Parts: sequence; structure tokens; C-alpha cells
Amino acid sequence: MNNKISAAITAVGGYVPEDRLTNFDLEKMVDTNDEWIRSRTGISERRILKGKGLATSDMIAPAVKQVCEKRGIDPSEIDCLIVATVTPDMMFPATANLACDKIGAKNAASFDLSAACSGFLYALTTGAAFIESGRYKKVIVAGGDKMSAIVDYTDRSTCIIFGDGAGAVLLEPHEAGYGIKDSILKSDGSGCHYLHQKAGGSLRPASIETVTNKEHYIYQEGQAVFKFAVKGMADVSAELLQRNNLTGDDIAWLVPHQANKRIIDATAHRMGISSDKVMLNIQKYGNTTAATIPLCLWEWEPLLKKGDNLVLAAFGGGFTWGATLVTWAY
Ligand code: UT7
Repeated sequence: MNNKISAAITAVGGYVPEDRLTNFDLEKMVDTNDEWIRSRTGISERRILKGKGLATSDMIAPAVKQVCEKRGIDPSEIDCLIVATVTPDMMFPATANLACDKIGAKNAASFDLSAACSGFLYALTTGAAFIESGRYKKVIVAGGDKMSAIVDYTDRSTCIIFGDGAGAVLLEPHEAGYGIKDSILKSDGSGCHYLHQKAGGSLRPASIETVTNKEHYIYQEGQAVFKFAVKGMADVSAELLQRNNLTGDDIAWLVPHQANKRIIDATAHRMGISSDKVMLNIQKYGNTTAATIPLCLWEWEPLLKKGDNLVLAAFGGGFTWGATLVTWAY
């Protein structure tokens, strides 16, 4: 009855750098301790992309390559690559353009999308629309951030949170009933001053003053963001369930943005989802911004079954937030 083309995830790839920055390493850098970090955030260590000349595209490229290998396609078959990131290699060209060049995706349209920690959900919804419209047959949606490039490692309130990584999924047309079923995306730019990078854009171009004032690092008012995040992520996830006539019992997995374990617990509680159905890898990777959700899918892929309902949920800078309902297709 329903001939609508669905967009389904048909492969997942991921990349995390080898170098680990543990809580014990951070104890030697700032006034903090392992117990505080674990109890307040759930994080034990994060991965850091080290090495001269390495940037976000160097994590996106292997993640996308892995997707192609798993699905048995050549990168030249990719129609479109969307990269969600707030740490692009450069202001321009887009990191997606550079990643395509690195993997030989010569026939792909490619662009970056900026929605901070919700970037992957924004990109996934955009990529799904390209498939659903019939415009493209193979869209890769990636999220990646080299957060270590914008973290001030003398600021204990932010340096304990963030890490580097990238993840990617392939979207292809699929029979109705599977794939990206619904998505609610929200934004409120009045939240900007709680979480942003002050300089480096057209408002405050780089200058000696901006560098001296450390304005090229992440600025976050953690407590305020925490309150907005708990409410935003839980509200939008509950709204998504309600408008699809689902309860927590119908959900096989909650795939939350990994910013703080306490925010994740609150969202799961509000949705009536028990902790054994919540993907959690914040302890290993910290907050990798646009990469958290695809990295969870990458890690849990072997456990996912065709027909599983997943709710992907995020909250972050902007503010941006959202939730996406996915029925797993393989
Ligand atoms: O992904 C993008 C969206 N971002 C988020 O969702 C992040 C949301 N915010 C958070 O996750 C939390 O607010 C943080 C993890 C950033 C901070 O946790 P918190 O429980 O909100 O701590 P706080 O800022 O209220 O600080 C509590 C205390 C303060 O000391 P006093 O004033 O009570 O004496 C801080 O100075 O903890 C102190 N503190 C630390 N102590 C040890 C702050 N950072 C640290 C630290 N180690 N790293």
C-alpha cells in the first residue's frame, strides 16, 4: 500500500585514534581527579588524534572507507557524503570535500553540516530526504570531530569531557517499514552564549587579541547546558515516542549523544527504557560531539537485529537537539 521509498542504514563504520588520554593523565595536567570525572560525567578516558597534519577528514576517511568495504561498494559509487562537524579541517573547503578526495569518492556531491552535538541527527535526516525523494541511491552520513583541536587543556571544566573520533553510515533505498521512520529536530540560537567558540568566525576573526584571550577554545557554562540538555533530550525523545504511538517497551535500543552519563540516565528514565537497552561508550571515548551516535551504532552493530526500533537522541551547542526513530534493516 505504501510505495514511499524508505531510507535505511545498510552499513556502519567508525574510527577512533589510538592515543588514549586517561583521567589519570588529566590529573597531572589540571586540578581534577578520576573519581570526580567518573562520578560527574561517566568518562574514564578519551581518544586523541595526534600527529602532524592530521585533522577531522583523516578520521572521516577511514570510517567512510570501512562502510564501503563492509557493503562491498567502491567509493566512486557514493552519490553524496554529508559530514557533520564543528571542527572542520579548515573554514573552507568543506571537510566532506577533503574526505572524498582522500578515499577516491570522485562522483559524490559533498558538504559539511554544522549542528554541533546534534549534527549527526541533522545530517541523517537530510541524507534520508535525498534517498526518500529518489534523488540519490547511496548517501553516506558521517559525524566526526577533532575536539582536541579546540579544547583548552588548562580548563578543567571542559578538557575532561571531550575526545576525538568519527563514525559513518550508508543510507540506501529500502522496502517500507525499515530505516529512518521519523525525526524531530529543534534549535534555539538564544542558547549560543552557554556553549560556543568565541572567535575564528566572521564575528571575531582570528587576531593576536583573540589568541591571547583564548577565544579559539570551547567556552561552556556546564551547569546551564546540563539543565537544558536533560530537559531537551528527554522532551524530544518522549515526543517522538508519543507521536509514533510507541512506549519504551517498543524500543530495542536508545542511542544517546554521549555528553554526560547523568543526562543519558535521565533521558532513558523519562522514556521508560532500562539501562541494559542504552548504548553507552562515554567511558571510553568521552564526548566526541558529532561522532558519538555513529560510534555507538558502529560498536553495537553486531548486536542489532532486523526490525529493532532505535531512538537516536542528542542535545548540544546552538542549542540544537533532536530525536530520530530508526527501524534497523539488517
Ligand atoms: O555535548 C554538548 C553539550 N554539553 C553537555 O551536555 C555538557 C553538560 N554539562 C555537564 O556535563 C556538566 O555540567 C559538567 C560535567 C561540565 C560539570 O559537572 P557539574 O556537575 O555541573 O559540575 P559544576 O560545574 O557544577 O561544578 C561543581 C564543582 C565546582 O566546585 P565548587 O564550586 O562546588 O567548589 C567546580 O569548580 O566541581 C568543580 N569542578 C571540578 N572539580 C574537579 C569543575 N570541574 C572540575 C573538575 N575536577 N574537572
